[in-house]
Amino acid sequence: MLRVIPFLYWVIEKHVDPEKMPLPQLRKTYILFYALIQLTGTKYGCGVGGCGACTVMISSYNPVIKRIRHYAANACLIPICSLYRVAVTTIEGIGSTKARIHPVEERIARCHGTQCGFCTPGMVMFIYNFFLLSGNLCCCTGYRSIIDACKTFCKIKNGICHLDQEINELPEFEEVNKTSPKLFSEEEFLPLDPTQESVFPPELMIM
Ligand code: FES
Ligand code: FES
Repeated sequence: MLRVIPFLYWVIEKHVDPEKMPLPQLRKTYILFYALIQLTGTKYGCGVGGCGACTVMISSYNPVIKRIRHYAANACLIPICSLYRVAVTTIEGIGSTKARIHPVEERIARCHGTQCGFCTPGMVMFIYNFFLLSGNLCCCTGYRSIIDACKTFCKIKNGICHLDQEINELPEFEEVNKTSPKLFSEEEFLPLDPTQESVFPPELMIM
């Protein structure tokens, strides 16, 4: 039996195929309490772990050291059977246009880091997990605006932040940075909201 919690809904699979990955499962349409649940924010890009469009957050609880661990994973690669006793958070679980979008989403939008938007949920989930970017591909914007958004979360800038170091090694970035006007104003960003931080369902701690 497998229990996956996308967007705070329990899904119970009684006959899990060990060769299956969770991506199609997460994108499936469910009817729960007469409501149609369609969590299609997690995208199917390459299907082989190369593009990061399917990035989700996995959360597990270690009862020995009493610690919750959150990490990003490719939903097209991680076997569904390895998700026993873990929570899976998809892009729908971190913010919404109806309630409140997450600051990571807001900053990517304000920094012009999205065009067609196909790669964006994966980028958001990766930044949400680590505030680092690697293994996520975008075919539209290039990476400068996405990394600009990511860097707005770096507390320590100018050479100490991991992203600053990587970007400043690229000479063309320096050039563009000198000549381009700033596309966003940090003063306009929504304040960080602690209610949007990673959570772990207590039900999974006592299973
Ligand atoms: Fe490309 Fe999963 S779909 S990494
Ligand atoms: Fe289109 Fe990234 S915004 S692939």
